[in-house]
This record gives sequence, C-alpha cells and structure tokens, in this order.
Amino acid sequence: MLSELTIRQFLGDLDTPLAIYADAMDADPAMLPGRRDLMRRHASFPGFRALQVTDDATRRVVGFAYGFHGEHGQWWYDTVWNALVRAIGAAQTADWLVNCIEVAEIHVHKAHQRAGIGTRLLTTLTSGRPERTAVLSTPDRDTTARRLYRRFGFTELLTGYNFPGGSPPYVLMGAELPLNDARASLPRRFSASPGIS
Ligand SMILES: CC(C)(COP(=O)(O)OP(=O)(O)OC[C@H]1O[C@@H](n2cnc3c(N)ncnc32)[C@H](O)[C@@H]1OP(=O)(O)O)[C@@H](O)C(=O)NCCC(=O)NCCS
Repeated sequence: MLSELTIRQFLGDLDTPLAIYADAMDADPAMLPGRRDLMRRHASFPGFRALQVTDDATRRVVGFAYGFHGEHGQWWYDTVWNALVRAIGAAQTADWLVNCIEVAEIHVHKAHQRAGIGTRLLTTLTSGRPERTAVLSTPDRDTTARRLYRRFGFTELLTGYNFPGGSPPYVLMGAELPLNDARASLPRRFSASPGIS
C-alpha cells in the first residue's frame, strides 16, 4: 500500500527510511547520522511531500520517497544552479530550476525491488504538483534508478558532475511535468506489470 505521510509522521520515524536507504544504497553506517540531519532539514522545505510503500503481507515499510520545492538557499539547489549555469547557460538553467520539485530521495528495500514500487513512488511523488519541472541527481552509472528516470522522460542536463567535497560523478537530470511513461505507448508485452496493489 502506498501512503503519503504528514511532516509530523515523517519526522516521527526517521529510523524506517534510514534503514531502507542503508539497505538500498549499501550505505556506510557512519554516514547515517548526517543523513538523518539532512532528512530533518529537508522536511522543513516548502512543498515537502513524503511517501512510503508498505508490504501488504508483512505490513513492513519497504520503500519511500520524498521531494520538495527547490529554491535558492538550499545547498543542492544552489550548487546545481551554479554547475548548470556553467554547463548549459543561465537561460536554460532558469528554465529547469525556477519552478521545480527536487526529487530528493527514492529508495526501495533490495528484497522488494523490480516489482513496480519505485515507479509508483516516482509517479505519485510528482503528480498533481504545482511545479513545471522535476529535477534530481543520481550516480553517473548504468543503474536501475537512471533507467527509471529516463523511462519517464528525464533529460540528462549534465553528466560526470562531482559535487563539492569530492563526490563520485553524478548526472543531473530534469523532466517537464507531468511525467510520461515511455513504455505506456509500447505494445503490452514490453511494459512491466506494476506488481503491487
Ligand atoms: C531505483 C529504485 C528506487 C527503483 O525501485 P524499483 O522498485 O526497483 O523500481 P521498479 O520495480 O518500478 O522498476 C525497476 C525495474 O524493474 C522492472 N519491473 C517492475 N515491475 C516488474 C515486474 N513485475 N516483473 C519484472 N520486472 C519488473 C522495471 O521494468 C524496471 O526494469 P529496468 O531496470 O530494466 O528498467 C531502486 O532500484 C533502488 O532503491 N535503488 C537503489 C537506491 C537508488 O539508487 N535510489 C535512487 C537514488 S537517485
């Protein structure tokens, strides 16, 4: 079951999304306290929306996603803004970022991946939003996440981008809203069944 959390519900149980994040990303446990602080900060940003998916059989939370309205004063937004201005110019950067939702986190527990949960999280997170675009960063590798974003029309705005502080290379991606599933127009045998209710 997919449900939307209030900010209070989200902040009331950060252990759950952190555990899913750690599993999905093979995260070093030492970085989880910093991640918790970041989640707390993100929950105070405008237009914050958090979703979770619960497994019907076990009633355990197996996936989550959240995003918020991007604006100046947010570290990721300002950093990406400056990088994009250098890469694609001020006008195009403004087109992508002036009225955007940042898709900040989307993670599914490994045991529950490839069952359509990530797709539902992404489409629900971005649906009915007032923003014109959705933007995000993801590791610059051939990952399930990158394929998911491409499938929903995300364009690669900048590849091989290292965030300040010596991060591995990321790709910055953006899509106009509403998202469209590229597979929806294919014959049925090519499209994945959602797999969950
Ligand atoms: C990215 C992520 C959230 C996607 O979640 P997911 O639940 O696995 O996503 P979906 O199931 O909707 O789609 C993933 C794949 O499963 C396939 N799939 C979906 N339902 C399926 C089904 N019933 N049967 C077979 N395959 C299915 C999809 O077609 C897709 O295939 P592709 O990778 O070849 O394109 C998840 O893989 C994850 O947590 N990854 C690690 C963390 C991460 O990278 N997060 C994003 C950081 S930016």
